[in-house]
Amino acid sequence: MFLGDIVGQPGREAVLRLLPEMKKEKSIDLVIANGENMAGGFGMTPPLLEELFAAGIDVFTSGNHVWDKKEILEIMPTETRLLRPANFAPEAPGRGMGIYDVGEYQVAVINLIGRVFIPLPSDCPFQVASREVEKALQVTPNVIVDFHAEATSEKLALGWLLKDKVSAVLGTHTHVQTADEKIYDEKAAYISDVGMVGPYHSVLGLDPERVLNRFMRGLPVGLELASGEVVFNGVYLTLDPRSGKALELQRIFQLISLEGRI
Ligand SMILES: [Fe+2]
Ligand SMILES: [Fe+2]
Repeated sequence: MFLGDIVGQPGREAVLRLLPEMKKEKSIDLVIANGENMAGGFGMTPPLLEELFAAGIDVFTSGNHVWDKKEILEIMPTETRLLRPANFAPEAPGRGMGIYDVGEYQVAVINLIGRVFIPLPSDCPFQVASREVEKALQVTPNVIVDFHAEATSEKLALGWLLKDKVSAVLGTHTHVQTADEKIYDEKAAYISDVGMVGPYHSVLGLDPERVLNRFMRGLPVGLELASGEVVFNGVYLTLDPRSGKALELQRIFQLISLEGRI
């Protein structure tokens, strides 16, 4: 199971409420989630990570918001269940790839960030992907890539590059789930964006009135999380662990009301 960007307290609350049951019901072996927006919409902190590990998430990926809360720097060098994009500077703390034991097999998770419309210093995601995937394949055929990127073109291109090497290329960052999931004959499952776990009536999880104010008036209004029901987006991925071949990719789109709890 892979969950899209978890946004703020509403996103975390939805995970706490829904995940344990879903995990049981579907016999999920491994839960990966993008956590870059878990702390008030911007960044992540060690206590919030712990809360979500306890709720059943096994591995966190991240993206452009990974350093928004400085506390994360304390654990990034040592927390092996937390990834930052592999194509950040090699000197940046943390790791972009991890290999995890899942019952009788292993799964490698690789986190990458795009360069189209994301003005951050990062190395070529295609070259770094090729390098990291080769490393992962030395250990396991089961390789899952979170490509944290804006442009569908960049995401589809990476999917194409890796379609005969990895089990899945799953997009994050836009917070909007796309309906273009597919399984390549060669090996990989692909979706441009898995979406988010966060406020549904919002602009990417944020209060739409405030965002609109920014767009229409250019005023420096602060951004805040939206309220109301929460959308729970992600995917279920089924693969053959002996070959790493993706067998099925199923989108998750569930609305949940958290009334009285926020
Ligand atoms: Fe995000
Ligand atoms: Fe992002």
